[in-house]
Amino acid sequence: MFEALKPQPADKILSLMEAYRADPRDGKIDLGVGVYKNPQGVTPIMRAVKAAEQRIWEQQETKAYTGLAGDPAYGDAMIALVLADAVPRDQVAAVATPGGTGAVRQAFEMIQRANPQARIFVSDPTWPNHLSILKYLKIETVPYRYFDAETGGVDFNGMMADLDGLRAGDVVLLHGCCHNPTGANLTMPEWQAVVEKLNAVGATPMIDIAYQGFGDGLDADAAATRMVAASVPECLIAASCSKNFGIYRERTGLLMAVGQDRSRHGVTQGMLAFLNRQNFSFPPDHGARVVATILGDEALRADWAAELEEMRLNMLRLREQLAGELRTLSGSDRFGFLAQHRGMFSRLGTTPEKVEALRRDHGVYMVGDSRMNIAGLNADSVPILARAIIDAGV
Ligand code: LMR
Repeated sequence: MFEALKPQPADKILSLMEAYRADPRDGKIDLGVGVYKNPQGVTPIMRAVKAAEQRIWEQQETKAYTGLAGDPAYGDAMIALVLADAVPRDQVAAVATPGGTGAVRQAFEMIQRANPQARIFVSDPTWPNHLSILKYLKIETVPYRYFDAETGGVDFNGMMADLDGLRAGDVVLLHGCCHNPTGANLTMPEWQAVVEKLNAVGATPMIDIAYQGFGDGLDADAAATRMVAASVPECLIAASCSKNFGIYRERTGLLMAVGQDRSRHGVTQGMLAFLNRQNFSFPPDHGARVVATILGDEALRADWAAELEEMRLNMLRLREQLAGELRTLSGSDRFGFLAQHRGMFSRLGTTPEKVEALRRDHGVYMVGDSRMNIAGLNADSVPILARAIIDAGV
């Protein structure tokens, strides 16, 4: 049987991670996979996470199953973190999922079951695994223009023109904040214009929010998602705790289905639980319990938010420093967009050949589409990267 299996294409981000590990050079710079690193190059366990884990270890009395939707305290806490009071709680169906990717996968499956004809519009570019999962599920995808390589910002006119191709029942996948891979984000008036277009045609937004707290702050980063949820009849939201709680390997996510028609709530909630049961049964609990413990305790929550804010400001400082170094070396402002971008990532906007040269000649590892993980830098490596970018002729 196994001889019939075909080799699968390597994941671009994960294979880069392996190539970096195998490179023996000192001074190599890892700007690949999206994990936060502190100035010492370590992905730390956040203080509040350690404290919550200790509390759970001391107080937890059973590891028996939770429910198919996960621990209700986790769902409530995450809904409040992402949506605040944008929509009444009884309009939100939600299930815990294995990471944000699990939430994305379950959302796509729910769309497929609800409307097999639905096409999913995705930004060009988007996170490669969005495309990979959609292809795996055989869901038709339609790219919409998003990134303007000239300015390093959003090609909003192109995006709106491409969304003119929407039909009723289609879904538009949007990044709630900190767009991955570009770092370029819509302004609030642009979000509003997108919502008006979707409502006019009868299309549904799906928001992937994996970096809340990494851009402009916890509330600012959720503002667009809250506005959308409050302004459309229905939407799907896939949230991740991997980055903002630093619990990547615990696989902690939440899928929310927001619907104004309360009479559908029970069926929607039941469908989400059913999908969990079919795919993996109960969702992982440890990370979810850590998150619920932190968000439910005033002191832990304040400490977590403070540490997250330090991480955010560190990434912003690195952006400013990199843009400044490049301004000096290039004698121009053409890299100024790096300071405007938000979140972990920025798309440098160069060719795969130059990305390859950066890796070969300078030991700089970024994804082939020139996505850089800004958190992979520190104050010492920024000038080295800036010099390499200029030397590679970017
Ligand atoms: C990334 O984009 O680097 C992260 O979301 C990690 C991943 O799973 O690809």
